[in-house]
Amino acid sequence: MNKIKNFLSVLDLNEEEIYSIFEKTFYFKKNRLNNHIKPLADKKIGMIFEKSSTRTRVSFEVGIIELGGSPLFMSSQDLQLGRGEPIKDTARVLAKYLDGVVIRTFGQDRIKEFADFFEKPVINGLTDMYHPAQILADLFTVYEIKKDIKKLKVVYFGDPNNMLNSWINLQAIMGFKLVLAIPEGFKINKVVEDNSKKYGGSFEIAHDTIKASENADVITTDVFISMGQESDEIKINKLRPYIIDESVVSSAKDDVIVLHCLPAHRNEEIAETVFERFSKNIFDEAENRLHVQKAIMEKIFI
Ligand code: CP
Ligand code: NVA
Repeated sequence: MNKIKNFLSVLDLNEEEIYSIFEKTFYFKKNRLNNHIKPLADKKIGMIFEKSSTRTRVSFEVGIIELGGSPLFMSSQDLQLGRGEPIKDTARVLAKYLDGVVIRTFGQDRIKEFADFFEKPVINGLTDMYHPAQILADLFTVYEIKKDIKKLKVVYFGDPNNMLNSWINLQAIMGFKLVLAIPEGFKINKVVEDNSKKYGGSFEIAHDTIKASENADVITTDVFISMGQESDEIKINKLRPYIIDESVVSSAKDDVIVLHCLPAHRNEEIAETVFERFSKNIFDEAENRLHVQKAIMEKIFI
């Protein structure tokens, strides 16, 4: 096991580190065009993607360039990894060339195995289990508008997936109120639930969407079917009542923030009208990926 600082889940950071990343994010956002800090100068950062991406790929690549480093994008289809070369061999080879990597892959065990054999810093660019860079950008987007994180009520609607798991992780570290509006019979991942308890976190499960969003400061959702999952009409039909529509928004506070990590399926997990009305929040959230990830990379890659 290595002692390298990785960012494989939100639980790799503590509250103080997250606030310090947010302070640095404000700096990077304000000084994007006249920033002379180049902490990644001479660093070669690999970007290994086993799934599609628009935001994560481009925001990390641009962020690495703006911090003075060189990104190398590698689709797994073009690597021997895609033809079955073991991940631990890929990691040991790439460690000879690179200074760090961002990986988007399937199981959390895959990124963990890569990190164990790479012995240099690794950042999670999404796994089936977590999406930690996204979730920090989400909370930062809220923090820009509402300063007192501990007083927030955040309600997540929909599928218990990598985004929901990341909200649970983040709640345990940052201490806001978290309500999860998910269909009856849908289970929270046991490891995620156990970690929440271990870190002193808590969350409520709700099935009545209007009640769940009462007094909410933030409402958020994600696609019903994640990458790597088969389309499943039975699952989608169970999730349909958990759409963020006008009635859900009306039940929240007047100044509610609506987030969506994107890509969005209009009128599936979010109504078209809600999406467009809150598009400023949603596209600020997408923009903040870049600024937050620069602060994360400055912490993890140097
Ligand atoms: N939100 C997000 O991670 O988007 P991409 O899949 O486009 O990277
Ligand atoms: N839960 C989604 C997030 C996409 C950014 C997925 O894993 O496909």
